Amino acid sequence: MPALNLSVPVAVIGAGAMGAGIAQVAAQAGHPVKLYDNRPGAAAQAIDGIDRQLGRVVEKGKLCAEARAAIVARLQPAESIDALADSGLVIEAIVENLEVKRGLLRQLEALCGKDCILASNTSSLSITSLAAGLEHPGRVVGMHFFNPAPLMALVEIVSGLATDPSLAECLYETANAWGKQPVHTKSTPGFIVNRVARPFYAESLRLLQEGAADCATLDALMRDAGGFRMGAFELTDLIGHDVNYAVTCSVFDAYYGDFRFQPSLIQKELVDAGRLGRKTGRGFYDYAEGAERPQPVELASTAIVDTCVVEGSLGVAEALVQRLADAGVTIVRRDGNGLLRVGDAVLALSDGRLASQRAGEDGLANLVLLDLALDYAKATRLGVSWAAHTSDVARDQAVALLQRAGLNVSPLADIPGLAVLRTVAMLANEGADAVLQGVGTAADIDLAMRAGVNYPQGPLAWADAIGLPAVLRTLDNLQAAYGEERYRPSLLLRRRVAEGRNFHD
Ligand code: NAI
Repeated sequence: MPALNLSVPVAVIGAGAMGAGIAQVAAQAGHPVKLYDNRPGAAAQAIDGIDRQLGRVVEKGKLCAEARAAIVARLQPAESIDALADSGLVIEAIVENLEVKRGLLRQLEALCGKDCILASNTSSLSITSLAAGLEHPGRVVGMHFFNPAPLMALVEIVSGLATDPSLAECLYETANAWGKQPVHTKSTPGFIVNRVARPFYAESLRLLQEGAADCATLDALMRDAGGFRMGAFELTDLIGHDVNYAVTCSVFDAYYGDFRFQPSLIQKELVDAGRLGRKTGRGFYDYAEGAERPQPVELASTAIVDTCVVEGSLGVAEALVQRLADAGVTIVRRDGNGLLRVGDAVLALSDGRLASQRAGEDGLANLVLLDLALDYAKATRLGVSWAAHTSDVARDQAVALLQRAGLNVSPLADIPGLAVLRTVAMLANEGADAVLQGVGTAADIDLAMRAGVNYPQGPLAWADAIGLPAVLRTLDNLQAAYGEERYRPSLLLRRRVAEGRNFHD
């Protein structure tokens, strides 16, 4: 079914942050839009707000004054819900409460024509349950925008059990026509983004809880090595710990306590203490005026290293070798299993085992493990850990070599899978399970994570780049190290490795 014609009247219910943004998007696309809120005056106020905001866009020269006036003219506050009777699409963005939303949908079903599509912007409620009990549950579709709706490209088009596929397709095409990047998904807890993103927070929280490093160091690794815009601590401080913790709890409960989604006690402590992040002036970081922002821990070495030996291929980290060569380090190549030797030290990319365990099992004296980087040619920081028996001299030589490549080197305790590697492996694992369970295609899951939460790469494409056997090995080793369900590899990952295929083949 094609996109809705621009002459089709759209109604948005709820004039809060999301409803106002969605109304703006629909009006910008060219639809006549009615905005309704049960708080008297709220809809008119929201339209004034949109007008003011568009005024700033005009001042920046990104919109002409006529276009601003035309958009605002298409937006009308509705005095009562009855004014929405002629709508072809109603998008509700009211309070996140199942019973209240259900009541509203029942009211709309009685009010609007039988062809009117009823969409919900819910971020956590089941579209299947929202539609249950309606006379025509097939016309209820999830249309999940991200905040702020005018700026964020992603829209998850969510189908419940009864949703008419042609209406989901129509909203997909409509979102596309509105300049958004839609993805199809099934009504399962967290849909795509709020499910697949859970490990991003969970792994950093666990690393902190287990003393792997402090917040500033872990955040810096996620940014400077992982290529994420923010680390988990600064991001959850921005989102608000009450909100982020509630989403985690709701996904955890909805999956019947699957330990993959286990909430974090240290985040609960913050919530209990009222340290909700930026909005209360304190979360993991202190936002009080004059408070000093902690800096990431870095290792410095004055050892002089001119030569290193590369045994076999370093795989995803191979670009590091070129970087060292460009910096004037002499590279000696030998056959082998992906090791980098400098002085007494042996460097290797983590495979999910503890450094001390791997040093013993593989007979590697003076082992230093390297964390994952999104792009080893461009990263500005890398995490390292080392085995208990690694000498200070060897560790210093390893650090000196990485410094020659221009990298800041941040230490992590001897923890399996280090920081970026275990996070990316877990994101890809969750994405793989979502594909396996038909929640979305690999392409849509990657697109959702890039467009919805600005990941530098889709987790499944990232796993393909690392090599699926290496990702599987990392998860198997993490599972063995912790003895926990949490790290169990997705069947789809194991299957793809057995088939010799990638997620995107
Ligand atoms: P909000 O609290 O800013 O706005 C909700 C608005 O709905 C309020 O103006 C309220 O007066 C109005 N309202 C409440 N009950 C109503 C009813 N029965 N009839 C008419 N109006 C009613 O909330 P926000 O943040 O805009 O969220 C709205 C919806 O969007 C929720 O379902 C939320 O889960 C979802 N959402 C929120 C996101 C966010 O980042 N805030 C992101 C994506 C989805």
